[in-house]
Amino acid sequence: MKIRQALCFDDVLVVPKYSDIYSRKEVSLKSDLGAQISLDVPIISSPMDTVTESSMAAAMSFLGGLGIIHRYNSITEQAQLVSEAVGAVKRDHVPNIGFAIGVGDDAIDRATACVSAGANVICVDIAHGYHSLMKYTLETLRRTFGSGVHIMAGNVATPEAHQALSDWGADSVRVGIGGGSICSTRVKTGHGMPTFQSVYDCALSGGSATIIADGGIRNSGDIVKSIAAGADAVMIGSLLAGTSEAPGEFTIVDGERVKAYRGMASKDAQLQWRGHYSSVEGVTSHVRSSGPVESAISDLDRGLRSGLSYSGCRGISEFHSNCDIIQQTALGNTESGTHILNRG
Ligand code: XMP
Repeated sequence: MKIRQALCFDDVLVVPKYSDIYSRKEVSLKSDLGAQISLDVPIISSPMDTVTESSMAAAMSFLGGLGIIHRYNSITEQAQLVSEAVGAVKRDHVPNIGFAIGVGDDAIDRATACVSAGANVICVDIAHGYHSLMKYTLETLRRTFGSGVHIMAGNVATPEAHQALSDWGADSVRVGIGGGSICSTRVKTGHGMPTFQSVYDCALSGGSATIIADGGIRNSGDIVKSIAAGADAVMIGSLLAGTSEAPGEFTIVDGERVKAYRGMASKDAQLQWRGHYSSVEGVTSHVRSSGPVESAISDLDRGLRSGLSYSGCRGISEFHSNCDIIQQTALGNTESGTHILNRG
């Protein structure tokens, strides 16, 4: 067996290049996810019960991104969330609304109900997407819906998996296993792969599906690095879980306004949605209140535009072909963060 090295976000930096961009407004963040879905902002909210229900999905669509309504509910409840989101998207705006399904017996019924309620993106959402049940589900979805609906699938970590899901019918693939802020998959199972490396490898696979970097994105710099590695968009959970549009009530913990944020394979989440738990591969936590989702997305949007401009690029496909990435040392990573010496 050959053991190779895999790089994470903090291991790399994008190299600054000549630029003739005068304003960040000159940079477009438009991204074509394939199969009729084009985003103005390449950011997608995670299908988690503390991140995306109708308010988040509507807001993300309105802001030019996409929200995937989670599947930890009955078919009727999920279809209701979809139709609330489609109604709630502001006038004169064609809504992009996604929803998640699993690979179990109710997957096709769930998909049919949510597409009828107005959704246009189906996300086949399982922890280990390189699986025979994924193949069966993708092929069945394609037979049922033809090419009239965008099919996203995941999660995967390797180029073989990305190629396979593309061949089985996925239009876009979520790439990243075990990197999420609330994941304990790597600790529990010893399996995983840094999201940055997975995205970089999958982008070279030859598979046709566009790539969504998913798990472990902490700031706009990680989004810039994901896109530099070949992602067409990113999926985020923790960065949106404290916004007003995320499900759940704010509480005060240690004097701070917070909302719960939990992995969908956490003990709490499993107990709530299926009454028992098996392998626990996520944790429950909370995140600080961060105001309306619009300000969270604007902040990321500004950082992303600035990032592309440092490479002299006016758009994502130009950035894909022109950016250069270097590996930094551990000391370089320390220097890359703010590091003022606070001496009393
Ligand atoms: P961030 O870092 O944005 O990650 O908070 C969100 C992503 O984490 C994944 N996810 C899980 N992964 N156990 C896992 O190993 C879990 O319980 C879990 N819940 C969510 C998912 O890909 C999400 O988009």
